[in-house]
Amino acid sequence: MCGIVGAIGERNVADVLIEGLRRLEYRGYDSAGLAVVHEGDILRERESGKVQALADASQHVHGHTGIAHTRWATHGAPTQDNAHPHRSGDIAVVHNGIIENYESLRERLQAEGFVFSSQTDTEVVPHLIQSELRKNPDFMAAVKAAVAQLHGAFALGIIRANEPDRLLAVRQGSPLVVGIGIGENFISSDQLALLPVTNRFIYLEEGDFIEVAAKQITIWDGQGVVTQRPVVELDATLHASSKAGYKHYMLKEIYEQPQAIVRTLAGRVSHGRVAVDAFGPQAAELLKKAKHIQILACGTSYHAGFVAKYWFEAIAGVSCHVEVASEFRYRTTVLPADTLLVTISQSGETADTLAALREVKSRALGSLCICNVPTSTLVRESDLAFITHAGPEIGVASTKAFTTQLVALMLLVLAAGRQQGTLSAEREQTIVTQLQGIPALVEQVLAMDPAIERIADEFAEKHHTLFLGRGAQYPVAMEGALKLKEISYIHAEAYPAGELKHGPLALVDHDMPVVAVAPKNDLIDKLKSNLQEVRARAGVLYVFADHNADVREEPGIKVFSMPTVADEVAPILYTVPLQLLSYHVAITKGTDVDQPRNLAKSVTVE
Ligand code: G6P
Repeated sequence: MCGIVGAIGERNVADVLIEGLRRLEYRGYDSAGLAVVHEGDILRERESGKVQALADASQHVHGHTGIAHTRWATHGAPTQDNAHPHRSGDIAVVHNGIIENYESLRERLQAEGFVFSSQTDTEVVPHLIQSELRKNPDFMAAVKAAVAQLHGAFALGIIRANEPDRLLAVRQGSPLVVGIGIGENFISSDQLALLPVTNRFIYLEEGDFIEVAAKQITIWDGQGVVTQRPVVELDATLHASSKAGYKHYMLKEIYEQPQAIVRTLAGRVSHGRVAVDAFGPQAAELLKKAKHIQILACGTSYHAGFVAKYWFEAIAGVSCHVEVASEFRYRTTVLPADTLLVTISQSGETADTLAALREVKSRALGSLCICNVPTSTLVRESDLAFITHAGPEIGVASTKAFTTQLVALMLLVLAAGRQQGTLSAEREQTIVTQLQGIPALVEQVLAMDPAIERIADEFAEKHHTLFLGRGAQYPVAMEGALKLKEISYIHAEAYPAGELKHGPLALVDHDMPVVAVAPKNDLIDKLKSNLQEVRARAGVLYVFADHNADVREEPGIKVFSMPTVADEVAPILYTVPLQLLSYHVAITKGTDVDQPRNLAKSVTVE
């Protein structure tokens, strides 16, 4: 998704801007650009495609104050003309988010004589600032007057040719941080972009305006009052983001899962019990009072929530609904009394998840988020937060973030069961022990990698794949299908296997591989009957099953022998081979694994 970097200092900032954009590449983008103030003018370069193309085109760009952007097209194709920064006279602007009322503003500004050169919503912003400057020559006053007319969610970075010592920025619904250097300062939509230049950050609040100079930062809050925000110092080693010898971030992140899960559990369990206060000081009380759980999330995080729905009801005896945030936020909802909201997000910046939380928070008993980024907006806006400690996840397709979310959610389910009095201490201890055993079992699954790699070419030529699971393994199948479509561009669908004969069976033939997750559990015999239905229609099956499930390999049925694992925690383990399968199919197809086309890591617009 779009990324912003800005810098002001004594050195030539073009290199900092380009390096910052490179570090944002993982978020997904389709064009990039930068603008710097240079001798009373603005030098601008924009390119569609990769940041490297921009770097090549920007060799001549020098200046002490500048802004840069990676764009993920929403309004207008990913062309050079639509790439940011956008200009109006001596003003240049980069923008994340969406200006909802851009059409009416555009008509008005055209009537004032402004000429537009792009199809973007963003271009109204520099023209509007320019229009305001005609009424009041003060730069910040003009920016504030312009922003007051914008509807939508956005973050902006703004420079002006004849004001080389000021970089202005606004946060209104899209993330923005300030990086504090020595004699130089920075802005970015993502702190990762600035880690080479600083580890000291100010996280702006909604409605903040800032003026950044090389040695000074002034912040106005939403009411226009000059304010101070805390400076947070990050431990840079926690944010190491190299591939560490792996060919792709995604593969590295798949292999990091045992360690990541150890980190999620560390300090959160002791003597076979969950530390309820790991969820925050009021967690014990809220979990006791809660009569219903409403989970809200998007993408992979939604699948984690879907698994947790099975767990909440089966293990803690608490009713639980799960819904994608983009739907929930816009429908009329009835929350049962004493509902605890649980949001799940790797980034903590997903626009729909944040909006759904804001929409419903006042009607709920309380809100708790499961998140990987402690400094994120979601963490700040939730009553309680549980940080997964998965470490930075760079691959767009989420892997370790998902398995650590599952671990966190199981801890929450156990804590809820304890507080509700529905879970015995023995069962809690048993499941805690099972969770502690997961890292070693994941290592065993990772050792299956070469065997999984060998079947990748059997998928690479196919156009469709079906994933089947039952019970809490159904969301695991959904996650497997999502991974495959995200990175290999093969259409993949997941079905709860009991639904096969209500439609999808019509699609099954020798050309549609069917992947099944089949651990030994109460539903295994039913699942095996469903697999026979596939086989009887010449469907080729790839089954991940443990020895006890007793699924026999025969022509048309390839069985991968999984380690034996307790049913409760099996979804965590069965996710891993499906990640490896998608990865190898994508490699065989030659797609861009870490930055799949059209997708973004952090979806900060709706
Ligand atoms: C994007 C990413 C997915 C992610 C989803 C939700 O679509 O590509 O990998 O699952 O956003 O992101 P979140 O940060 O809220 O978990």
